[in-house]
Amino acid sequence: MEGKALSQTVVSDKKTARTSFLPFALPHITQAEIDEVVDTLHSGWLSTGPKTKRFESEFARAVTAPHAIAVNSATAAMHLALDALGIGEGDEVIVPVYTFTATAEVVVHCRARPVFVDVDPVSCNLDPAQLEKHITPRTRAILVVHIAGLPADMDDILAIAQAHHLPIIEDAAHAFPASYRGRSVGSIGDMTAFSFYATKTLTTGDGGMLTTANADYAERAALMALHGITRDAWKRYAFGGSWYYEIVAAGYKYNMTDIAASLGLHQLARCQWLLQRRQEIARRYTEAFALVPEVETPPNPAHVVHAWHLYILRLRLERLTLTRNVFIQALTEAQIGTSVHFIPLHIQPFFRDTYHLAAGDFPVALDAYQRAVSLPIYPGMTDEDVDDVIAAVEHIIETHKKRV
Ligand SMILES: Cc1ncc(COP(=O)(O)O)c(C=O)c1O
Repeated sequence: MEGKALSQTVVSDKKTARTSFLPFALPHITQAEIDEVVDTLHSGWLSTGPKTKRFESEFARAVTAPHAIAVNSATAAMHLALDALGIGEGDEVIVPVYTFTATAEVVVHCRARPVFVDVDPVSCNLDPAQLEKHITPRTRAILVVHIAGLPADMDDILAIAQAHHLPIIEDAAHAFPASYRGRSVGSIGDMTAFSFYATKTLTTGDGGMLTTANADYAERAALMALHGITRDAWKRYAFGGSWYYEIVAAGYKYNMTDIAASLGLHQLARCQWLLQRRQEIARRYTEAFALVPEVETPPNPAHVVHAWHLYILRLRLERLTLTRNVFIQALTEAQIGTSVHFIPLHIQPFFRDTYHLAAGDFPVALDAYQRAVSLPIYPGMTDEDVDDVIAAVEHIIETHKKRV
């Protein structure tokens, strides 16, 4: 029982605790971002406008995608992707069960059914070996998630998708910038959704991007992102623009603002530096924890560039005398913020009850969840912060490992 575990004895050694709390995640904002937002505020154009358009074209170039549509979340981008594929009632969409609710809820919004698939025990990404078993005549698309920023096994997934003539939508909420065998995430599947939520590797506060090489999908997504209006508002109101527009579909209100794009332009320009800092932190964690047999470090195979949005450490609970929840409590007492990614969707009340799922249906995802602790990893962390996290983890393990 989760709640019960928390009431166990206090486990941290107060002497090792930091004097101030290290947050689990923080955005990295410089004066350039602030100046650009202020410039936008002075410009008189706050909503979708020239900065959003520039952000779209620069982002498209960064991921080598012919089209990019800026929206207000990755959730919106995935919803638009499903709409562009015409997914609706009676359709099924494959979704890995180890993900955030957004990946599956958009399928429900289309009145289709998310068909959950278990994940690979090492990467925690969609397991190609499980995928094929869940494809039925009703399957209309495969949603792939790149958990933590680690690209999924795209060669195998693409081969299965091609064999069944199924499009792939990538949930790359964690995966910018990332690549798989030299190809940028954003240019691999039929459509890719990125998140620019506050804690993501590139942030616009809240925001998202849909990329695609397919001009028809891009056109439909751009249309549906703004009420199904045939012309962008900023073109209508700009000098020489026309007041006339037509509604050709019942669209959504998913457009990005120029205020958000102001942040995005500068975050994008700095994305390689931001990535390098995350890579350094990940390397230091992995070097330290590789020597600790009570934990499993996240994989980082040579054929990918991992975006390191998250660093998910997995506890080998059979070698420890404490639960994951108590481990988290000890880190909190050591003044270190943590999180858990992810509570698999099949044990969440909505999905469990709607689709009659049992906890044991997806054993790999359940096991990964029960052992997962996400450690802080963000560019603003100092080397001392990283040292503190390593020392606290090592100390808790040392005092709670089973001695045989
Ligand atoms: C795997 C995954 N997909 C989608 C999302 C949704 O992103 P957004 O908040 O931009 O809609 C998240 C958010 O954390 C996520 O973790």
